[in-house]
Amino acid sequence: TVTVVPAVVNLDVPGPVISRHLYGHFAEHLGRCIYGGFYVGEDSELPNEGGIRLDVVEALRALDIPNLRWPGGCFADEYHWTDGIGPKDRRPSMVNTHWGNVEENNHFGTHEFMALCELLGAEPYISGNVGSGTVREMSDWVEYLTRDGDSPMVRLRKQNGREQPWRVRFWGLGNEAWGCGGHMRAEQYAAEARRFGTYCRDHGDNRLYRIAAGANGADYAWTETLMKQLGEPGCAYRPQPFMQAVSFHYYTIPGTWQDKGNATVFDAGDHYRTMVQAARVEELIIGHSNVMDCYDPGRSVGLVLDEWGTWWNVEPGTEPGFLHQQNTLRDALVASLHLDVFHRHAARLVMANIAQTVNVLQAMILTDPDTKALVLTPTYHVFEMNKGHQDAASLRVDLPDGLPTRAVGTDTLATVSLSASRKAGRALFSLSNLDADEPADVELDLRGGTLTDVRARVLTAARLQDHNTPDAPDAVAPRPHEVTPTAKGLRVRLPAHSFITVEGALS
Ligand code: AHR
Repeated sequence: TVTVVPAVVNLDVPGPVISRHLYGHFAEHLGRCIYGGFYVGEDSELPNEGGIRLDVVEALRALDIPNLRWPGGCFADEYHWTDGIGPKDRRPSMVNTHWGNVEENNHFGTHEFMALCELLGAEPYISGNVGSGTVREMSDWVEYLTRDGDSPMVRLRKQNGREQPWRVRFWGLGNEAWGCGGHMRAEQYAAEARRFGTYCRDHGDNRLYRIAAGANGADYAWTETLMKQLGEPGCAYRPQPFMQAVSFHYYTIPGTWQDKGNATVFDAGDHYRTMVQAARVEELIIGHSNVMDCYDPGRSVGLVLDEWGTWWNVEPGTEPGFLHQQNTLRDALVASLHLDVFHRHAARLVMANIAQTVNVLQAMILTDPDTKALVLTPTYHVFEMNKGHQDAASLRVDLPDGLPTRAVGTDTLATVSLSASRKAGRALFSLSNLDADEPADVELDLRGGTLTDVRARVLTAARLQDHNTPDAPDAVAPRPHEVTPTAKGLRVRLPAHSFITVEGALS
């Protein structure tokens, strides 16, 4: 017998809006994410614009990616932006000490990043250097990017070929200040964030959304230390707070830091342990939100999860510092589970960035270093199938009988995950079955409206370990799925280890 999961959705009771920025991305100067991923150089035989690989852009445009975080990560805190402007042959090199100790020639810099964002139709999210940079350096970067008229940095920008200022909203005050960003204590970083945040000015009508580098996982004390700063008055003439959001990072690592687990060789037990780790993101969002609620009950400060995703042992034979890993159906379920959680917490969580877009960690796209073939990962398909949730009003899913569960060690895992939203007269439902072997039926009891013109798609494969390669690019790809109309709404069959979206017109 198939487990039946009744789920009630009031189609006419919209909840908080799911910011499109919850579908954000992250691109670091790390391994083959920028060089060999996004950027192949102007002399490449691959179609490119200013060195930016156009098939990568085209694939990502289909996801409606809302923002792209750059240049790190850990790299952000050793990046000096002035090295990455001006004629490429005169840009100084540096050593990327975090990621493989390789030489970075700075050919991909500010102008190239902003051109990439324009091609993608995505907002830039720039992470400034607090760890090894200066306040002046960061302040100048903001001026260079966003000021109009005439000023030293504006003249420099114009000299480098860009007349008009860009619009930049999202601005990170360092990255992982507790670790690679300077090994600071929370109090020390909070003081730095106040200083750096102060001098990142709003030029003209460009309004920065300053994001303080936040906690590692469940370090709620870090968040509290930052939130307390809001009550500390700054300069009376500039009452604007030094930060508009606080971030935190959380990766799904079911193994240990030394042996994180194999991306493609795993059993059902490994799969369930992975899902338990992934589901933990909800506890963390609630924990950080609770702390923030004490200091900011009106929720004017946003919570940002600007790094998340699976982190496996690197693909055998690749440079350990390049963090190159395969991406299976299991990764897709980690993604769909996270996105359901994000939808549920859209009132406080304003942005999330999966790590990282191309060739690094839980990527959307993998490119072959030799043949240059491009492969869309199962995770890519989850982002594509779910894109209708961006800027939609969340719809609460009530579960009168709860969700089916299974014991995983001392933990309990809910093996079905659901979320829903409505936008522009259409509703979208996301349904994941995390069970490795058993199907489940979700009985959607739709109230306050009806759904017509219903279409469903399923992402699954014979095995959880299945993934896409240049030889089998569609081994894991969405296919049409049949759903059954019922007196109350719809019955949706969720095959074992599957992700399904159902959408329809509301009337
Ligand atoms: O995404 C890889 C690294 O993970 C980032 O550079 C760092 O911020 C985090 O530890």
